[in-house]
Amino acid sequence: MKFFADTSDIEDIKKLNEAGMLDGVTTNPSIIAKSGRDFIPLIEEICDIVDGPVSAEVASTDYETMSKEGAKLAAIADNVAVKVPLTPAGLRVCKELSDKGTMVNVTLCFSPGQALLAAKAGAAFISPFVGRLDDICQDGLQLISDVLRIYENYEYFDTQVLVASVRNPLHIIDSAKMGAHVVTCPPKVIHQLYNHPLTDKGLAGFVEDWKKTGQSIL
Ligand code: G3P
Repeated sequence: MKFFADTSDIEDIKKLNEAGMLDGVTTNPSIIAKSGRDFIPLIEEICDIVDGPVSAEVASTDYETMSKEGAKLAAIADNVAVKVPLTPAGLRVCKELSDKGTMVNVTLCFSPGQALLAAKAGAAFISPFVGRLDDICQDGLQLISDVLRIYENYEYFDTQVLVASVRNPLHIIDSAKMGAHVVTCPPKVIHQLYNHPLTDKGLAGFVEDWKKTGQSIL
C-alpha cells in the first residue's frame, strides 16, 4: 500500500519523507488556501522534495478552463498528477490529459458509478472520499470495497484506488485489508499507526533490563 500525505505543509512532508513513509502527496484548493502560499511555487517545492506523484487540482469547473489549467499544472514537473473533479467536464479533461500520458487523479468520488466512469476516462487514480461519507452516516469503506470489486473485473482498467478523506488509522487498515492501492491522509494519521502502549511498555522493559547488564554494544 502506498502512503500519500494529504497536506501542503513542507515540514510534515519532509518528516514523513525522511522516515521513508512517503510515496506521494495530494493537495486540493482548500489545502492550498489554508497554506496561505502561492499555488504554483508551492507545488514546485513539493515536487522537488517528493519523488512520487504530487496531486495539484484545477480550480475551474468548465472544460475549456480546466483543460488549460490542467496542461499548465502538468508542465510543472513529471511527477505532477493533475486533479480534476468527478464531473462530465472533469472526466473529459481526464481523458484528454491521460491520452497525452499525464497522470490524472479524479477526485470527489462518492459512488461506484462515478469510479467506473473515471476508470473509463483513463484516470491514474480515483479518490473516493471515505470520511465525508462516514460524516453523513453512509459507509465510506463500503464504497472502497465496491470500487475495488468493479475494477478487479476489468484487467484493462489501470486506475489505482486512492482512498481519500481518511479520518483515522482504521480507515487505513481496513482499506489495506481490501487491497486498496493508496491512502492519502493527514500526516498525523500516518504517525498514529506507529503507536501501541504495549510497544512502549515492552521497549521500556528491554531498556531497563539491558541497563542491568552493564554492557554496551558499541
Ligand atoms: O484531499 C482530498 C481528501 O483527502 C480531502 O478529504 O474530507 O479531509 O477534506 P477531507
